[in-house]
Amino acid sequence: MGIALHNRAIYNDLNYPLVSSNGDSFMLKTHTCGELTLEHVGQHVTLAGWVNRRRDHGGLIFVDLRDRFGITQVTIDSDATAEAHDVAGQLRSEYVVQVSGDVRKRPPGFENPNLATGAVEVIAEEIKILSPARTPPFYISGNADDVEEALRLKYRYLDLRRPRMLANLVLRHRMVRMIREYLSARDFLEIETPILLKSTPEGARDFVVPSRMHAHRFYALPQSPQQLKQLFMVAGIERYFQIARCFRDEDLRADRQPEFTQLDLEMSFVEAEDVRALIEEMLIELSGEISPKRIQQVPFPVLTYAEAMERYGVDRPDLRFGQTLFDVTEDVRHSEFAVFRNAAASGGQVKGVVYPGGADLPRREIDELTDFVKQYGAKGLVWIGVTGEIPANGPIPAEALRSQTAKFLSADELRAMISRSQANTGDLILLVAADPGVTAQSLSNLRLEIGRRAGLIDQNVLAYCWITDFPLLEYDDELQRWQAVHHPFTSARDEDWSLLESDPGAVHAKAYDVVLNGWEIGGGSIRIHRTDLQYRLFRTLQISEEEAEAQFGHLLEAFQYGAPPHGGIALGIDRMAAIYAETPSIRDVIAFPKTAAGTDLMVNAPSPVTEAQLRELHIMLRPEKDGGD
Ligand code: AMO
Repeated sequence: MGIALHNRAIYNDLNYPLVSSNGDSFMLKTHTCGELTLEHVGQHVTLAGWVNRRRDHGGLIFVDLRDRFGITQVTIDSDATAEAHDVAGQLRSEYVVQVSGDVRKRPPGFENPNLATGAVEVIAEEIKILSPARTPPFYISGNADDVEEALRLKYRYLDLRRPRMLANLVLRHRMVRMIREYLSARDFLEIETPILLKSTPEGARDFVVPSRMHAHRFYALPQSPQQLKQLFMVAGIERYFQIARCFRDEDLRADRQPEFTQLDLEMSFVEAEDVRALIEEMLIELSGEISPKRIQQVPFPVLTYAEAMERYGVDRPDLRFGQTLFDVTEDVRHSEFAVFRNAAASGGQVKGVVYPGGADLPRREIDELTDFVKQYGAKGLVWIGVTGEIPANGPIPAEALRSQTAKFLSADELRAMISRSQANTGDLILLVAADPGVTAQSLSNLRLEIGRRAGLIDQNVLAYCWITDFPLLEYDDELQRWQAVHHPFTSARDEDWSLLESDPGAVHAKAYDVVLNGWEIGGGSIRIHRTDLQYRLFRTLQISEEEAEAQFGHLLEAFQYGAPPHGGIALGIDRMAAIYAETPSIRDVIAFPKTAAGTDLMVNAPSPVTEAQLRELHIMLRPEKDGGD
């Protein structure tokens, strides 16, 4: 029997070869488990898939048959088919079976409105076991979210059978397909770049691969295709993109994996605004297709780095809620309260955030918040609950404030705090006094914690924003030298080049990040395309000419053969997919992710190699205690 044409709509997604050249079906099923409806009643069908659940009522056995597309109930009646009933009796969860039979309308009252196929059932005539299965280590049909992640990762192929994980893979597929279509329609060429390459400085450690043919030489896996895409611009490609795998040996978090995927993109003859406009339009289209949530603001808000740091204490602000930080450093510069006065005198800041409705928070919760900010280096948290009317002049009545610190602060200082924080009666003002780094770290995180605790975060929106005007360089106290904030190919703003040697910290970059719901989902810049400027920047970074030649000679030389002005961006596909799929970890949108310790629990990697392999690679191992030297 030929596959019905309407199946194509479902399968087309992956271009399955549904029908052979002479038109005959060569698949082991005529329909998927997700498509039978009342329209099919009376048809003879063959389904194949996994036993999701089996209910044995003696003479009647019900099997929920599952495949990628859904679940269909198969009913086996011992009176009708003794043989099929025998086979059905042997079925266990996750057996792979093929079932043939007629589609029947379910008896009234037995429909399942939660199932696309819930109006019908297949009355089995024949059941074949295609593959038996051991009892799985966790239920596929159950909610495996409470299953230990290590077990899910060890048996990832079973974890991926769960509809939620499958949905994540489907979402990711649709995302990447849409990106490819969007960019292809705009003359971008998708070009692959090598994985065995040379170190590229994106700020993390490299994964290195020893060479057998070249003793004592190593390839490095690319941290990103940065230099290669710039070389594509020199090559005259003008518009390049790639769904690129990147490798970075860095500490892992929920939003970081040692290998991850970028939409990497580069364009010639553009300004920063052109790249941003292209990406913004793509993200708007993508969100519309992929996510039911609405975009909070279009065009995306644009914040300078300085504005983001001032208002949110972080360069990836979550704009789904307000509670911006306020600064009272100047108001308390001469305060009698030494903690504030000393912070202000030593170049620090006194900043705060409001917990709306928090004035009568139990002391235990306030203590929790204090411990919370201590994780980020703050010595403590000053709290002032606004419990009553604050008079415009004169002393503030004791019952108008709930605080242990208020008594050390003047009425004017308190009034300044209330006015700058815009706190209302019933709110709790929380303040940190520390150096700017610690203030930013602790308050940005406290703001998010308040957002979570007080339920301020609008879960129904996608809040995108751009962050621009990053500093080009930051001083690394440990290394005692300037480092590139993004990477050393980023151009300074035209008007700032003159400051590069005299005041490196004041130079702004032509760089931009795109942020979604508090996650940095992408970053890019206009690049340096002139050798002289690139050398100048290397000098500021204390990269010698010899070092520059050795590391980036190919790029520096290429720039001498006619390099167009160019710029680009890279978006983190895993992070975007995780946000669209509403999952807290990018591990949930990567088919075979690594654990937080960088291991693969399924194949057990990294693992030792044989002595013979090491010999071929000219490698002798040091004792483990020397390891991290
Ligand atoms: P950047 O280093 O900012 O820029 O990376 C771009 C985006 O990639 C994602 N990302 C990650 N995702 C998962 N795990 C990781 N370990 C990880 N690291 C980064 C983030 C980030 O915003 N070559 C430049 C781009 C350019 O200038 O064009 C680059 O790689 O979402």
